[in-house]
Amino acid sequence: MRSEKILDMLNEQLNRELFSAYFYTAMEAYFASQNLDGFAHFFMVQTKEELDHARLIFDYINKIGGRVILKELKQPKIDYSSPTEVFELALSHERFITSSIHEIAKAALEEKDLTTHNFLQWFINEQAEEEETMDKILRKLKFIKEDPSGLLFLDKELSTRVYTPPSILQEN
Ligand SMILES: [Fe+2]
Ligand SMILES: [Fe+2]
Repeated sequence: MRSEKILDMLNEQLNRELFSAYFYTAMEAYFASQNLDGFAHFFMVQTKEELDHARLIFDYINKIGGRVILKELKQPKIDYSSPTEVFELALSHERFITSSIHEIAKAALEEKDLTTHNFLQWFINEQAEEEETMDKILRKLKFIKEDPSGLLFLDKELSTRVYTPPSILQEN
C-alpha cells in the first residue's frame, strides 16, 4: 500500500539527494580552486553517487504510480575556511540524510507499506557507508592538522576514488 504521506516524503528525499549532488559539486569547485585535485575528484565521484540515489528514488516513485515533483534547490555554501570545515559539513549533512531516510522507513512501517520499507533498506546500508567515508577522511584531516605535506598525501589518496554505479541501478 502506498500513501500520499509516503509519496510526499519520497519526493522530499528526492530533493535532498539532488541537493546533496549540488552541495558536493560546490565542494568540488572549492577544492579545484585550491588546486587540490584529488579532493575535487573525490567530490566529483560523490556527486555522481548522489545523482544515482536521486535516480533510484525517481524511478521508484514512478514504479509505484506516484508523481515525481521537482522542487527548488537552495544555493549550496560556496566558500569554506579549510578542508576540515568541508568534511565537517559533509559528515553532518550525511547524518541529516541518514535520519531523513530513517524517518521515511519508520513512516512506511507505520503505514504498513512494506514495499517502500524494503526499498529503503539499500539506502539505510548506503548511509552507514557514507557517514563512515566522510568521518574517516575528517579524522585523517584532524590527525595531520592540515600540514601541507599531509594534505598533499591525502589529496593523492583521494584521487584514486573510483565511481561505481550501484548494482541495483545496473539491474534496471
Ligand atoms: Fe545520497
Ligand atoms: Fe550521501
